[in-house]
Amino acid sequence: MTTQDEPGRARRSLGLRRLTTAACFNTYERIAPLYDAMESLWEVSWKKPLRRMLFDGLGGRILDAGVGTGLNIPYYPDGAEVVGIDLSPKMLAYAATRAKKHGREVALMSMDLRSIAVPDRHFDGIVSAFVFCTLSEQDRLAALRELARICKTGGKIRILDYSLSTRPFMRFVMRCCEPWFRWMFNATYQVSFEEFAPMAGLELSGSTFVVGDYVKISEFRPLPPSAELSGKASS
Ligand SMILES: C[S@@+](CC[C@H](N)C(=O)[O-])C[C@H]1O[C@@H](n2cnc3c(N)ncnc32)[C@H](O)[C@@H]1O
Repeated sequence: MTTQDEPGRARRSLGLRRLTTAACFNTYERIAPLYDAMESLWEVSWKKPLRRMLFDGLGGRILDAGVGTGLNIPYYPDGAEVVGIDLSPKMLAYAATRAKKHGREVALMSMDLRSIAVPDRHFDGIVSAFVFCTLSEQDRLAALRELARICKTGGKIRILDYSLSTRPFMRFVMRCCEPWFRWMFNATYQVSFEEFAPMAGLELSGSTFVVGDYVKISEFRPLPPSAELSGKASS
């Protein structure tokens, strides 16, 4: 299977900038002070209920991968032990302020989700909201592999993100907004990663559109070690 499919071709034809980790770091370091204000309309109009859904039924030790300014913090399950990681120290500083405001203890760390310094099978639940849209295809696979490594067998990985609409009008609108989205958020609306599950040692256990056919929650479970080995052999 190739990781150079439609988004790669679309990017080249539009002359859009590449999604790189360095560009992502610079973008979020720059926009951290503006992020909450820029997001506020979307938060109020549609994102808040999705954040609640993302944590539904999770507990124990949870990772918020790409925690940003901590917009998920108000929805962390009571009693859960939560770790939040992000590339950008400035985004994390806003998350720390939000955690304090909500009286939540969250361990916040500057880390790349492609290489997370925790032991194997560490978390009961992992969530990632609007982070995979900032990763290149290769990095989405690398990130999924890392999340698979650190999730307990029987644990859940939930990813909330965009998906390019199949409806002609919405697809056209998303394609028109793509250059702005790249420039402002170092992100793409063409976020595909579910097909990487077997290569990452995961099973896709659920995939639900939560806004139209362009925002969805994908849920994965780590494959048991024996199935993981045969998945690697066949990929
Ligand atoms: C669009 S923001 C989303 C933030 C937050 N999850 C939310 O829902 O508001 C994307 C975040 O992912 C972080 N990020 C992007 N690539 C990352 C990586 N490789 N490792 C860790 N964090 C990353 C960025 O620094 C940024 O804070």
